[in-house]
Order: sequence, then structure tokens, then C-alpha cells
Amino acid sequence: MDDYLEQILHLIEEKGYARAIDISKNLGISQASVTNMLRRLDSEGLVLHEKYRGTVLTEEGRRIARAITDRHETLTRFLRLFGIDEKTIYHDVEGMEHHVSRPTLDVIRAVADALEADPKLLESVRRRL
Ligand code: FE2
Repeated sequence: MDDYLEQILHLIEEKGYARAIDISKNLGISQASVTNMLRRLDSEGLVLHEKYRGTVLTEEGRRIARAITDRHETLTRFLRLFGIDEKTIYHDVEGMEHHVSRPTLDVIRAVADALEADPKLLESVRRRL
């Protein structure tokens, strides 16, 4: 469910609308499954899904999608500090973003801020890898 909301927000920000076919392509999931999920999200009040007009997020859906996107961005920012390749970062972040708790995310954000503000500290951490 998180992946769908994240993807819908991404498509809306990129193109102004989210269509089942684009969600299906980006997530690598069949269009039939996407359509089923959109109906479910609609019945839970997270999106408004109209068959031929695309999908928009409700206020609650947008709030959740923003929180997921925020987790994604914070985790990506943290891992990029250590020179890990982008493909690995993306793969790891997509897994971690579903599980990481709010307190742990706050720690990761604080450590990322501290390392960004102190290149010497970052360098000394990187030397340990
Ligand atoms: Fe993500």
C-alpha cells in the first residue's frame, strides 16, 4: 500500500496525474492488480479513483504518501554520504522505508545532519568502511 501511495504522489508531482498504466510500469505489477489496489485505496479514503480519469490522493492519502517520501529521502541522503552505488541505495531504501520507526528515522536524520556539517567526521567514518 505504501509503495502505491508513494508512486502515485511521485507521478502526480512529475506529470500532474497518476494513471494505472504508469503505476503498473513503475512498480512492475500487472495493471489488473494495480486497478484492484486503487479500488481498495479508494474505499479506504486514501485516493479518488475514477476509471478513465486517473487517480488523485485525498488529503489523508497525501499525508501518508508525504511521510513515506520523507522516509525515502532521509534514508537516501544518509546512505549517499558513504559512496554506496545508487542502485544498491535505491534497493535498500525501498526495503528499509517500510520498516523504519519514527525514532530510528530521527536518529538517522540527526546523524546525516552531523556528518554533513563535519566533513572530517564523515571522512573518519568512511575510512572505517
Ligand atoms: Fe521509496
